[in-house]
Amino acid sequence: MRRAVCPGSYDPATNGHLDIIERAATQFDEIVVAVLINKTKSCLFEVADRMAMLKEITEHLANVRVDSWHGLLVDYCRANGIATIVKGLRAVSDFDYELQMAQLNYQLSGVDTMFMPSNPTYSFLSSSLVKEVATYGGDVGHLLPATVHQRLINRLAERT
Ligand code: PNS
Repeated sequence: MRRAVCPGSYDPATNGHLDIIERAATQFDEIVVAVLINKTKSCLFEVADRMAMLKEITEHLANVRVDSWHGLLVDYCRANGIATIVKGLRAVSDFDYELQMAQLNYQLSGVDTMFMPSNPTYSFLSSSLVKEVATYGGDVGHLLPATVHQRLINRLAERT
């Protein structure tokens, strides 16, 4: 079984995330989309909501499941028999930090990272910018799966 993990905060998942997950799913027998819990980062959505959104948008992918983890990513990989981390790279600016994490993760555990170039349509896209634009009333409907977009609108309305 060739199993890989697509880790992230997914606060919330965007079309860019989904594109990477869909493409990774064609390369491995199983993809685990793991919501990594970082207690120092303040997120808009609860972990359960982020997972629910990921389940909704990956429903059509038979070999994709969604999970969450608090701790080191490589410990999650070890505990779940995962040999590969898949990360999307949007631009050169992503590369420095991603390379550093990939090399450290490999040294810590032998778990390797494969980088997948993002679809150029989404190379500018990040969850943080989507949230910022939406907070000030900008239209982000074309950047998110429909169900995520609706939940984002609802969540922002709850906050105000
Ligand atoms: O979506 P993000 O916030 O860019 O994802 C970053 C994430 C969650 C993949 C990264 O911070 C991570 O792997 N966190 C888990 C903790 C860990 O293993 N840290 C050491 C990395 S070398």
